[in-house]
Amino acid sequence: MAMVKLDPPERLNMGLGEAMFTQRAIRRLKPDPISDEDIRTLMDAAAKAPNARNEHRGRFLVVRDREKIRKFAELYAEAWWAKQPEGWSPETAPPGDKHLGPMRLAEAMKDVPVVVMAVSTSPGQASSVLPAAQNLMLAARALGIGSVLTTLHPCVTDRIHELLGIPPEAEVHCCIPLGYPEGRFGTTARLPTSETTYYEEWGKPPPWE
Ligand SMILES: Cc1cc2nc3c(=O)[nH]c(=O)nc-3n(C[C@H](O)[C@H](O)[C@H](O)COP(=O)(O)O)c2cc1C
Repeated sequence: MAMVKLDPPERLNMGLGEAMFTQRAIRRLKPDPISDEDIRTLMDAAAKAPNARNEHRGRFLVVRDREKIRKFAELYAEAWWAKQPEGWSPETAPPGDKHLGPMRLAEAMKDVPVVVMAVSTSPGQASSVLPAAQNLMLAARALGIGSVLTTLHPCVTDRIHELLGIPPEAEVHCCIPLGYPEGRFGTTARLPTSETTYYEEWGKPPPWE
């Protein structure tokens, strides 16, 4: 297979810091279509990510067919519920419960314009696929396209493979719905890096507050 080198697309001109610091999980997505040109740009950005030994074991399956997305959404919702803690229910969840947004995404998945499946050609290659997924989502942010990394549950694996013609030896690592955001991009909240970074030795704080 011949390798290609690409210059950065001119349209990806958002500052790296702005893209990284305002890319967040966008779960309310407009049904408006995303152009082939934009999808191509996202895939080119994904392809630039590091991957083990440069062996290119990652594959991205772009799904736009309405019927396939509808069937995918049914499986996605089943998988989402299978991952929830026993007894969790939207009726008893407090306002702002962290499961409510993802639950609404599971309900709205059938209407998203695009779902990208991030797959490896053989099992156990997540480390060669997830950097590409992040590149894709950063490039989407730069183009004003919302995204969220989601994972499935083993209870739907076979049916997802069958639906999308994914060979049995391949592994789906995440599914990324894409669409123009209903809401806005914005700064994300994270633990301070002074708590999540150690210097030289486990547990030893870094030289900042
Ligand atoms: C491994 C992984 C699995 C995730 N699974 C889901 C999911 O199934 N459904 C969902 O809505 N979001 C999912 N997310 C998105 C996270 O909930 C999100 O990245 C996190 O809450 C931070 O959100 P923020 O960037 O908007 O602050 C997942 C993210 C990761 C990295």
